[in-house]
Amino acid sequence: MTQATNEMKTIHPAKAVQGSLRLPGDKSISHRYAMLAAYAEGSSIFSNFSDGADCASTLQCAEALGAIVERGPAGTVKITGTAGKFNQPAMSLDCGNSGSTMRMMSGLLSGQNISCELIGDESLSKRPMSRVVEPLRMMGAEIRAEDKGLSPIRINPPKNGKLHAIDFDSKVASAQIKSALLFAGLQAEGTTHYTEPAMTRDHSELALRAFGAQLIRDRNRVSIAGGQKLKAIEGGIPGDISSAAFFMCAAAMLPGSSLIFDAVGMNPSRAALLDVLSGMGAKIQVLNLEESNGELMGTIKVEAAKFKGGKISGMQSALLIDELPVLAAIAPWSEEGISIRDAKELRVKESDRIAAVCGNLRRMGATVEEHEDGLTVAGNQLLKGAEIDSQGDHRIAMGFAITALRAEGTSKVHGAEHVGISFPRFWEFLDLVAVR
Ligand code: S3P
Repeated sequence: MTQATNEMKTIHPAKAVQGSLRLPGDKSISHRYAMLAAYAEGSSIFSNFSDGADCASTLQCAEALGAIVERGPAGTVKITGTAGKFNQPAMSLDCGNSGSTMRMMSGLLSGQNISCELIGDESLSKRPMSRVVEPLRMMGAEIRAEDKGLSPIRINPPKNGKLHAIDFDSKVASAQIKSALLFAGLQAEGTTHYTEPAMTRDHSELALRAFGAQLIRDRNRVSIAGGQKLKAIEGGIPGDISSAAFFMCAAAMLPGSSLIFDAVGMNPSRAALLDVLSGMGAKIQVLNLEESNGELMGTIKVEAAKFKGGKISGMQSALLIDELPVLAAIAPWSEEGISIRDAKELRVKESDRIAAVCGNLRRMGATVEEHEDGLTVAGNQLLKGAEIDSQGDHRIAMGFAITALRAEGTSKVHGAEHVGISFPRFWEFLDLVAVR
């Protein structure tokens, strides 16, 4: 959850980044495992569960709904599920800063015979929820957002006691909407079909299969039959590639850098950054690959070589949505600049990430062109250290801490505590790899 405090971190320039990192568990996968384990029958055990505040919000919701959550050392979490029947929670379910918790939980809760309310912090209370509320209502869910489609979200037992399947064609490329509908579809009468306009991360599909459900994927259409039971699973969670992304970008933009990432998630629907950075000239090697519950993970080496820059648009923008802020932040160091289009979704994240990136780049002295759906940043620009406003957004704080490593003079990142949303040890990892 975001806090009212405003911590500041001073970033000194670094010559390079070097070393080896093992990242805490993937946030997206941790959310899904926690939700499905809470719904499943039996006790699931995960290692390397995300240590971020967002996933802690999901675990708290799971507990409030009757799942038993036991935390052990090194990110081990044991979750004993409710065999498909959540308890009536005693209080509002607090999703903190986490859009994933609020949207995906809405799907899971819509099919339950309970009444509940989902609330969030100031940033989450401004984010669009109609995108899940409307299709869930089409399935017979008794779910309502506040005026203008914002949270709190209130959910009562479904009309006629059960949800019914729908065939939904989403206009927004969002894994959160897809997941909410699949989690509701699991409890509906009939087979729910969901078509996405562009491929988004497929962790929900893989997790549902791992927990024993069957679903069918046909290009951009996923179908799930209702009434399937889930059984507990065990396994390790890959390191978060969206957290690794900050250090991969640091390695790509700082000459002489070389970093190794152990057991980092390599799910193809999340690993687009590797192709993009290698297309821009970085040297990337996959040293090994393994699999756990359908999720790929591997050891990756990223070394600085050329940093040309390039254009990101279309389907690639949806796949790279969480990595775009850091890519844009380091764009001035590229030879040809970076242009990002078809990324309007960035405007409705934890902050308006297009405005936040443009504002901070300008503070550092860069010239930037802002578009409704992205931005264009020229290459070969020199940045000066500056006061960075994280806007309460973890990915803005981390993205600018990275680009500041090459700037002239020191930078101050305000709102440094927000990294705790997804990557509490970010500052420690940065100190570990920065060569000064
Ligand atoms: C997520 C999906 C993305 C991403 C978010 C996590 C997920 O959001 O930005 O950080 O775990 O499904 P959208 O699916 O809404 O684009």
